[in-house]
Amino acid sequence: MKWPKLRTFLLTALILCLIPATRYYQIDVPLLRLLRGSHRVDPLSLHLTGEFVENNLGTEQNPDGSVTVRMIAQQYLFIPHCILVPAGAPVHLRITSADAVHSLTFNGTSYAVKVLPGTISETQLNFPTPGEYKTTCREFCGAGHYAMRSELKVVPREQFPVLHQEERGSCVAQ
Ligand code: CUA
Repeated sequence: MKWPKLRTFLLTALILCLIPATRYYQIDVPLLRLLRGSHRVDPLSLHLTGEFVENNLGTEQNPDGSVTVRMIAQQYLFIPHCILVPAGAPVHLRITSADAVHSLTFNGTSYAVKVLPGTISETQLNFPTPGEYKTTCREFCGAGHYAMRSELKVVPREQFPVLHQEERGSCVAQ
């Protein structure tokens, strides 16, 4: 192989190796942020501006009967600490991390949502019957990982408070 060709090959190989490396170490790459598009969010200003400010967290009722739940995972808690959803309704979960990689799981179900800083993880959940689920973090995220747990309460549809627009539900209202 001639040198210019070899050089191109080596450079390409190096770049290809670097892409997964940056994903692993959570290094901020502007190009990747651009490619992620609307799913990107700045982990440092979550509490200050945008979708994940405090009064926008929790359960929001949608006109079609489904609900949207917005949460933040951070060392070492989930915010809000307790989530309230109506039984049988589609739950659109939107969650992001303020720091490390976490994984939100609902004990007794197969749901597991990986939560990464800088990205919004979106998933659809459904809890057909009323009950209480312990939610735990299943990704080692630091010294307090084993204490990172919270709760999800599923109430019968008719017991779910009727939320007005701009209102966000949590267990506190119960
Ligand atoms: Cu968060 Cu482990």
